[in-house]
Parts: sequence; C-alpha cells; structure tokens
Amino acid sequence: MLIRHPVPSDLRSSDITPESLYLTRREWLAAAGLTVGAIAGASMLLPLGADAQQPLGTPYGLQPDDKATPWEDVTGYNNFYEFGTAKDDPAVEAKGFKPRPWTVKVDGLVKKPGDYALEDFVKAGRMEDRIYRHRCVEAWSMVIPWRGIMLADVLKRAEPAPGAKFVEFTTLYDPARMPGQRLPVLRWPYTEGLRLDEAMHPLTLLATGVYGRDLPNQNGAPLRLVVPWKYGFKGIKSIVRIRLTDRQPGTAWNISAPDEYGFYSNVNPTVDHPRWSQAKERRIGEFLRRPTLMFNGYADQVASLYAGMDLRRNY
Ligand code: MTE
Repeated sequence: MLIRHPVPSDLRSSDITPESLYLTRREWLAAAGLTVGAIAGASMLLPLGADAQQPLGTPYGLQPDDKATPWEDVTGYNNFYEFGTAKDDPAVEAKGFKPRPWTVKVDGLVKKPGDYALEDFVKAGRMEDRIYRHRCVEAWSMVIPWRGIMLADVLKRAEPAPGAKFVEFTTLYDPARMPGQRLPVLRWPYTEGLRLDEAMHPLTLLATGVYGRDLPNQNGAPLRLVVPWKYGFKGIKSIVRIRLTDRQPGTAWNISAPDEYGFYSNVNPTVDHPRWSQAKERRIGEFLRRPTLMFNGYADQVASLYAGMDLRRNY
C-alpha cells in the first residue's frame, strides 16, 4: 500500500513574487534572461529527413552541439505508465486513445475558476514553437521541439488569489481508456506540482504539440506540462485539472518513492539518485555519455528561484 507522507516545504514568503503576475510578457522574458537578443536567431533549421529542412522553432538554452532528437525517438521512447511501464509501450498501447473532446478545469485558490474546452483553454496564451533540452531522471536526454503556450498566461487569466503558493496538476483518471491505471504501479491519477513562481516562469510551457504537430497520444495528448530545468517526470501528461493551493501538493513519484524523487526534481549533476549517478547522461541517438548541466543548462534563467535553498535536501 502506498502511504502519503507530508513533505516539508522550504517556501518562504520571499520566494513568491506576486508582482510577477502583473508583469507584461516582454518584461517576464527580460527578467528571466530571455530577452529578444538572447533568443535571436529565431527559428532553427534542423534536418528532418534526407532532403527536408523545416523550421522547428526558437531554441531556448541549447548548447552548440545540441541537435533535435529524431521524431521516431521523441515519439517512440516514452514513459507514460497509464499505457504500460516499458519505454515502447505507450506508442503502441495509446494508439486508440481519443484525446478529444477534452476539458481542463482550473480551480482552487483563483479568483476566476473555470472549466474550459481545450480549444478555449489554449486561447489564454500565444502558441509558440520552442526547442528545449529534456533530461529524464533515468539519465537519458533528448532535445525536443515543443509547441505550446506559457502556463503563466493560463494562471494570469485565472487570477491567483493572495494565498496561492503552489500549483497541482492532475492527469485524466479513466481506467477504461488508460489500462495501466488498473494496476497499482503508481497512485492514480498521476499528479504533479510546482511552486507558483516556478509555474509562472516564462520557460514553463503547457504543450499541445511536438515537431509542429498535435501531440501524439504517447507524448501526453492533448495537453502536457514541460519544465525544461527539471527531470522529465515533472512533465505530467494528459492534464485535466490545474488547481492552485496554499500547500505543497503530493506528486505521483514522490508519493511512491520519496527517497528517490523529491518535490523539486531540479536537474542537478551533484545530487545523485540513490541508485545511480546523475553526473552524466545518455543523449538518445548518441554513443558517448555527456556531462549533465546544472538545471539542465537553464541555470542563468532559473537559479535565482532557489537562492538560499539547500538543494541536497530539496532534491
Ligand atoms: N505523465 C503521466 N500522466 N504518466 C506518466 O507515467 N511519466 C513521466 C512524464 N509524465 C508520466 C507522465 C516521466 S517518468 C517522464 S520521463 C516523461 O513523462 C517522459 O515522457 P516524454 O519523453 O514524452 O516527456
């Protein structure tokens, strides 16, 4: 049986920056070091096939030798336990899943709660194509061209109430459509959480697509979270609810193995997983392992969110 343990929070009132709720989009990007100059170069051209070249989106935080991971790997090598626990299960077992119609609930400590049809939900933000680095806790990595909107735009529309400090995300619970939920491998439905300032960060996306197309089912159709400086399991898939709260929410992996998966889950090469090192990673499609970067290469943009925190304790 899985027992839920409360996880101590190091949140201080100074960690929350309510003013950021009211900054303009341009001001946020600038505040996060994501100025137009810093992301100049706009669309990156990357080979998609033998003779096809297609703009994939704006690169964010990529290293000079980063190349987009091929479509086959991005869509064929996934964790999505609702559709099986092997990496190639989701692409096969999620084939028949119908991600539309889809409703997303936004509730909790917000002034404007609502239930939105997906098509209306995404109107909160501007749809963008962004290429991010992606680091799984299992020490493999990819570079993924996502399509999505900033979570901050969704939260701004909902107007967080003064007491809101965290955001909880919940995946659809429907064992008839998600057969993995009939087995007690995790606590269902899958949930994840962010501190409100992490959720408001301009790098935090709600993705509806990959490689310029709608998300394939195995990647979390029709809507999933992308937080590029955190381990991949924070990227909860097939979201039906976004709830603002004053308490740190329970998260699927933290509840199932609290010693192995913390609430923060920031990519950190100096804090090993209890069963393996996090110092290096295997880029899918490459032979030699690469050194893992602090915050997955996004330290300039996000390190300040954790100033003064003990990142060994808050892993
Ligand atoms: N979301 C749900 N609902 N169920 C899951 O099992 N797995 C997580 C995350 N989101 C998972 C989930 C894990 S462990 C990882 S590494 C990523 O999805 C992997 O999928 P991706 O490569 O498509 O991001």
